[in-house]
Amino acid sequence: MQSFEFYNPTRIVFGPGTVPRLDDLVPAEARVLVLLGGSSARKNGTLEEVRTALGAREVVLFEGIEPNPTYETLMRAVTLVRERGIDFLLAVGGGSVIDGTKFVAAAALFDGDPWTILESFGQAVTKALPFGCVLTLPATGSEMNNGAVITRRETVAKLPFLSPHVFPRFSILDPDKTRTLPVRQLVNGVVDAFVHVIEQYLTFPAGAVLQDRFAEGLLQTLIGIGPDMPGDPGDDARGALMWAATLALNGLIGAGAPQDWSTHMIGHELTALRGIDHARTLAAILPANLRVRRDAKRAKLLQYAARVWGITDGPEDRRIDLAIERTRAFFESLGVETRLSSLGVPASDIDVLVGQLEAHGMTALGESHDVTPALSRQILETAF
Ligand code: NZQ
Ligand code: ZN
Repeated sequence: MQSFEFYNPTRIVFGPGTVPRLDDLVPAEARVLVLLGGSSARKNGTLEEVRTALGAREVVLFEGIEPNPTYETLMRAVTLVRERGIDFLLAVGGGSVIDGTKFVAAAALFDGDPWTILESFGQAVTKALPFGCVLTLPATGSEMNNGAVITRRETVAKLPFLSPHVFPRFSILDPDKTRTLPVRQLVNGVVDAFVHVIEQYLTFPAGAVLQDRFAEGLLQTLIGIGPDMPGDPGDDARGALMWAATLALNGLIGAGAPQDWSTHMIGHELTALRGIDHARTLAAILPANLRVRRDAKRAKLLQYAARVWGITDGPEDRRIDLAIERTRAFFESLGVETRLSSLGVPASDIDVLVGQLEAHGMTALGESHDVTPALSRQILETAF
């Protein structure tokens, strides 16, 4: 196994009815900016619960962080933080609100042009305001990691940044908050978490024996609860989805393991260009990516086939084909399309998408840095 450092300072408070814990978790004297998405938290009563829990603290609201949060919107929140002397941020929402809050936390204390935060992939961040989260949508893992993805509308760029300064201080994970989620978002959560595991697991053997077993457990859990999502999943499945999505991207399974992330980086360009939900881009790109890179990933594909799908018989290539097809069938069974053509993407977008990858420096992706623009093109072509 490779050497690694594992650092994760985020405190998790998990369980139904845990929002009142905000009173102990947010400093008593804090001037708090509560950041929200569109209207879901207001409509379903979460905002009211949060306000009650914050008691007499000075609270300012910033509403309107959109899915795939934009720099343009978030910079208005940065101005508000500065004007109102805010010293603590509270994200109430899904990955977009939490990612947006991470950017605001870093940008509010940043000297110079805040877009540098994205251009430097977070290297330029030296400090950030403290913040906590109330998670309302299990999917991204943002509630327990130090990454965020921000879109700049002006330049059609969707870029990630990472910084040790943007781990949440705490995250409240109340599975009951998922009750008002449309099925579309629940299944998006299953697919996003699934692909997060795959990006850190389906690479090449690196002696990460325990991380592999954790990863396979997460995949099997998601495969087990996925079919429950369209009806009422029940408390156990809601809880399992929330905890699995958090553990899928909190650094645990990726520690000391090679990591891919090419499906994500290609997917981000699709979202930037076409506004397609993050998870839906992944479901369309992943099967094609595995098909195109099957030789480089051969050993782990065979392990994935055997341990996750129970495919152990027949020639190796047949087992690999079956594992990729089972993955596709799993997404489709959730009502998630796995072809770019089904998502309404025209083939003429391929040139634009490859151009965007080049413009954003995404020219040596993957666990072996061999996913060049030419290979990304092949993956995109295979995804139709
Ligand atoms: O905006 P509101 O009205 O709140 O509605 C939201 C939004 O429309 C709604 N929603 C959230 N909680 C709800 C609810 N509706 C009813 N009841 C609730 N309890 O769901 C919609 C989608 O929300 P969003 O936050 O955009 O979804 P998600 O959590 O999937 O986040 C996606 C974003 O996270 C980034 C993606 O790129 C995308 O921008 N990612 C962040 C990562 C990270 N920080 O580690 C990793 C991921 O790979 C991903 O890239
Ligand atoms: Zn993702």
